[in-house]
Amino acid sequence: MTAQHILLGITGGVAAYKSAELVRLLVKAGHTVDVAMSESATRFVTPVTFQALSGRPVYVDLWDARPDNNMAHIELTRRADCFLIAPATADVLARLAHGHCDDLITTLAAARTCPLAVAPAMNKQMWDNPPNQRNIAQLRADGVTVFGPGHGEQACGEVGDGRMLEPEQLFDLLAGLTQAKTLAGRRVLLTAGPTFEPIDPVRGITNLSSGKMGYALARACRDAGAEVTLISGPTALPRPAEVRFIAAGSALSMHAAVMEAVPHHDVFIAVAAVADYRVANASAEKLKKTPGQAPTLTLTENPDILASVAALPSAPFCVGFAAESHNLLAHAQAKRERKRVPLLVANLAQHAMGADDNEIVLLDDHGQHPLPRMDKTGAARAIVAHLAGMLPIR
Ligand code: C5P
Repeated sequence: MTAQHILLGITGGVAAYKSAELVRLLVKAGHTVDVAMSESATRFVTPVTFQALSGRPVYVDLWDARPDNNMAHIELTRRADCFLIAPATADVLARLAHGHCDDLITTLAAARTCPLAVAPAMNKQMWDNPPNQRNIAQLRADGVTVFGPGHGEQACGEVGDGRMLEPEQLFDLLAGLTQAKTLAGRRVLLTAGPTFEPIDPVRGITNLSSGKMGYALARACRDAGAEVTLISGPTALPRPAEVRFIAAGSALSMHAAVMEAVPHHDVFIAVAAVADYRVANASAEKLKKTPGQAPTLTLTENPDILASVAALPSAPFCVGFAAESHNLLAHAQAKRERKRVPLLVANLAQHAMGADDNEIVLLDDHGQHPLPRMDKTGAARAIVAHLAGMLPIR
């Protein structure tokens, strides 16, 4: 995410302490953060904490005389690229939904020119309370983005919906707030990561794949407004926020999960490095090592997930990947035709594997579209922009 100016509103919930970590993550990533707090937020965490973490003055009072024009509510939003209220209490959501301007944060929201997101934080009954649900629906209808809330244990000891998302998840979602919603209303299914083909309960064979490109694409599709399902083989990556996640192990289990999910999706993006073969004679028990006697593995072919989806009678729009070590474009073009996919993303395996950046070429009916080398987030956004332009208009 390119460096941005972020306005962070903090209202009075226990989760305010998590916003301190969010400020730290944002500042560490090179963003500028202006913090505005409600009076009740200052009862949970003091402005000094946020001042120290952001390195900037913190605003609480609508009548703060520090801004040059004496109008903190105008001054702070004019320099912001986006405005996030986290935690957002049930009370601030109600006041926002009704256009109240009775404190600095609600006045900032009314006077803003940038996108607004809220991260609700409250007890599960307060979240489910019909007036709160009406307020959330109203805010969504007004174009406000709602991050979460999460499900889990709450400060009051109860378990349910209403937890504020974790700072890392809010950090992840904030990057998408300013993205064009080119995939709004689309449902995208992706595969990512390697597959793991068991030899016995403790051993297996796998492909080298970090999952970074597939996860970046899942995020880019989500940020472009799509509903996203990610079916992933084993990776060490954190799950993208607000993406439906299904864990898969072997190619067969990934194939089954994809076939079950695919009827509910308009787009299928196959990024996973699926093992071409599995062990036909896998053992249900751990193989004992017998000195001088190496076991012989018999391999059998795995289903081609992408080809089977592309061959479905009502196939979604399919995107494939080709990682080749040589003759990249010739192999990639052949693969596009063989698997019958309208869009194929080609990259050199030795450049892409595990790296944070990537140099790709897009292949479609109109030919080859090389993209400059960029990080995987940038590459994912470029793929999404190209893909969005190819989808049938509805
Ligand atoms: O044939 P190859 O593995 O090079 O093709 C790569 C493309 O096909 C990728 O999009 C990959 O996710 C997909 N694929 C698949 N199922 C397989 C093998 C590859 O979906 N068994």
